Amino acid sequence: MKRIQRRTLVATLATASLAVLLPATSFAQKPIVLGFSQVGAESEWRTANTESVKASAKDAGIDLKFSDAQQKQENQIKAIRSFIAQKVDVIAFSPVVESGWEMVLREAKAAKIPVVLTDRSVNVKDDSLYVSFLGSDFVEEGRKAGRWLVEKTKGQSGTVNIVELQGTVGSAPAIDRKKGFEEIIKADPKFKIVRSQTGDFTRAKGKEVMEAFLKAEGKNINVLYAHNDDMAIGAIQAIEEAGLKPAKDITIISVDAVKGAFEAMIAGKMNVSVECSPLLGPQLMQIVKDVKAGKPVPKRIVTQEGIFPMETAAQEFPKRKY
Ligand code: AHR
Repeated sequence: MKRIQRRTLVATLATASLAVLLPATSFAQKPIVLGFSQVGAESEWRTANTESVKASAKDAGIDLKFSDAQQKQENQIKAIRSFIAQKVDVIAFSPVVESGWEMVLREAKAAKIPVVLTDRSVNVKDDSLYVSFLGSDFVEEGRKAGRWLVEKTKGQSGTVNIVELQGTVGSAPAIDRKKGFEEIIKADPKFKIVRSQTGDFTRAKGKEVMEAFLKAEGKNINVLYAHNDDMAIGAIQAIEEAGLKPAKDITIISVDAVKGAFEAMIAGKMNVSVECSPLLGPQLMQIVKDVKAGKPVPKRIVTQEGIFPMETAAQEFPKRKY
């Protein structure tokens, strides 16, 4: 009996002295490891989104493995496979295009690694391949742009010639913003999309394609609908270089509402920007924590957004966070 008591005492003392010797962190839980595959760095929006994801991961104590796909789907697939090989806890990604994800998502599912979609969605038959999708309603953004134009041209009887700068071919925002805009303007035959081409969401391409539109259509263009602010800003340069006044000779409608768009609106060069928030980091980290803890998460979380016509820009600008 005495021997048992002595042994227990020795064991207790050993554990206690170990606790004193080892730093407190040795007893803390291991951080969640999140593999995140970003589209690229194509726009002001994307830069703000990357900053939001990185800062929120740091604040949440999540170990972030960040990979930039440089707007290439094959790079995203490689990154996801590498996250699977590293056995990360959760994978999140913003898919550059909508289709072609089934195989790699099945691989993640087989490895029992939950996948969260952020910003853009995928087109898959089996929606159990991802646990949640956090991001904007791009169709609604297109509708907002269309409704603004309908309102702006109310009572105007002549044809309204529109040129459209589309986002990356096959991407959810390009497909949906086109769809939503067309859904609204088709109600009135005075609206005509005379040219529509991709500018890949970048300033350089936006400028280049707008130059081509101006060459082909001359002074025939009444409205530019750009799927993001960067392309609109590039196009504004092309319009000015062609000797025309943006927002006066050509109405400029854009999407994102980044600071660059507010500057353009304050300078009187852009008419309106539909908001698309890139500040998805905090909500994403919460989803990641919940998923890891085995809590149920909503399948779809839609970001709340507004619309900013140029008349409101100066007042809103100081409040903008991106
Ligand atoms: O997916 C969101 C879109 O991607 C933003 O509107 C655009 O600026 C970005 O590149």
